[in-house]
Amino acid sequence: MTRQDLSNQIRRRRTFAIISHPDAGKTTLTEKLLLYGGAIRLAGSVKSRRAQKHAVSDWMEIEKQRGISVTSSVLQFEYDGYCINILDTPGHQDFSEDTYRTLMAADSAVMVIDCAKGVEDQTKKLFHVCKMRGIPIFTFINKLDRAGKTPFELMEEIEKVLGIKSYPMNWPIGTDGNFKGVYNRKEAQIEVFHEGNHGQSVVSSMVGDVGDDVFKDLIGKELHQQLTEEIELLDMAGDSFNLNMILKGEQTPIFFGSAMTNFGVKPFLESFLSLTTPPSPRDSNKGEIDPESENFTGFIFKIQANMNPTHRDRIAFLRICSGKFNKGMMVNHVQANKKVRLSQPQQFMAQDRVIVEEAYAGDIIGIHDPGIFRIGDTLCEEQDKIMYEGIPVFAPEHFAKIYAKNSLKRKHFLKGISQIAEEGAIQVFKRPQIGVEELIVGVVGALQFEVLEYRLKNEYGVDIVMNQLSYKYIRWVEMEDFDPDNFGITMDTLIVEDEDEQPVLLFQNEWSIDRVKERNPKAILKDISSRK
Ligand code: G4P
Repeated sequence: MTRQDLSNQIRRRRTFAIISHPDAGKTTLTEKLLLYGGAIRLAGSVKSRRAQKHAVSDWMEIEKQRGISVTSSVLQFEYDGYCINILDTPGHQDFSEDTYRTLMAADSAVMVIDCAKGVEDQTKKLFHVCKMRGIPIFTFINKLDRAGKTPFELMEEIEKVLGIKSYPMNWPIGTDGNFKGVYNRKEAQIEVFHEGNHGQSVVSSMVGDVGDDVFKDLIGKELHQQLTEEIELLDMAGDSFNLNMILKGEQTPIFFGSAMTNFGVKPFLESFLSLTTPPSPRDSNKGEIDPESENFTGFIFKIQANMNPTHRDRIAFLRICSGKFNKGMMVNHVQANKKVRLSQPQQFMAQDRVIVEEAYAGDIIGIHDPGIFRIGDTLCEEQDKIMYEGIPVFAPEHFAKIYAKNSLKRKHFLKGISQIAEEGAIQVFKRPQIGVEELIVGVVGALQFEVLEYRLKNEYGVDIVMNQLSYKYIRWVEMEDFDPDNFGITMDTLIVEDEDEQPVLLFQNEWSIDRVKERNPKAILKDISSRK
């Protein structure tokens, strides 16, 4: 393969995450993007993919029961010469840590908003996670086929509540159940959609100049008049389009549409693809790595065990950051200082997992993990020992003491706990004097306790007893010659150690944190730890 071929492959990659409050229409939009990409023929398949997933992966029952998407998945498809990787993210706040890790693998984000609900709680939280990454954020305002807030209200809400400038790329024609089409501001063109078969297949449309009489007749004089006035107002009072700000995540391009009826999906997809960037350079310990470099590099951002219980397999999700990947290649596993062969790499297409022969910077592949990888690990081709920036471990806010109900199941219990911890869903602590006899588990969101209990039962056959503890704050201690016996703590503080045997303090209130700081001036207390 020539250098030029490699560049061409990488430049046509677009890798993005979709975020939304549950029910805003993330799944429906994803499905419609696949439909337009020709990856599925009739809409409805993603739903059945969902159902299928539930059938094979029991613990996702929780997801079904609660109507939330717990785990993230990855899909790839082609459209108009682009190779698109979509990363789905969990909508529930208790899994925002997982969302953050997924966003580490994305080059941009699409935020789906329900036009009737506007900016919802989870939208806010997930948006802030995106902001931390500084990636471009595109907004798709969904369900325009129904009654909702006015486009101006929605714009204002996005700007005020999320604190980001906005620029509507298109404007809806006819709202409140009378959605007929969109006005494309860049081209000054109207696109009127024809009613389709309930969004099952791509929708046809008619495009033309806004002043054309045909459109006046098609949408009616009144709507045409309203559109002309609104566009005038928008051009006068709204912010101007600023690509530089968009790429820094300071301005969000807004698109209006209805994923269910397919209205506005194609204009969104095409405009989004032309604005969002191909893979960009990433920071490492050796400086910025150019994605078009010939050397393969990538990092693991997610590990998921038992995706298919019949195989009991564990998949590490790898974001390729530079170069080309070939099936079976030998790479350095930098953190472990070992060479590994990547023999059964998988990619996730619309309905299936397929073995991938080659992949490029921007792509996400799943690699078989025999229990050697950790989140944040770098794999690279060179002897160079490139290491990408680590993925931070968030401070858990809920803690519980857990043990197996049946002590004969201890081995399974410990195996399950350690595997689930390696996926990053829980953090495990122990008291140095007691060891593994009594484990303390910390989670960022309380719902993760339920997932833990469910998975231990369903995947490892272990019933557990869980006693929630009243600790709320965690601090990792950095101190030379740390000695637990001579460290000044308050009555309600607990000294534990993490999986790397680093000393950790659990507190019930902020008052105790201040006291402990006063009593141990040489200790540095940190609320985030970088995985080693
Ligand atoms: P999520 O992944 O963000 O949680 O949302 P999802 O796509 O599952 O959509 C949530 C509900 O909203 C679904 O209805 C879906 O059909 C509906 N929906 C999505 N896009 C649109 C749209 O553009 N217009 C309208 N009117 N509805 C939309 P449901 O009743 O929960 O499921 P289903 O019975 O349709 O399967």
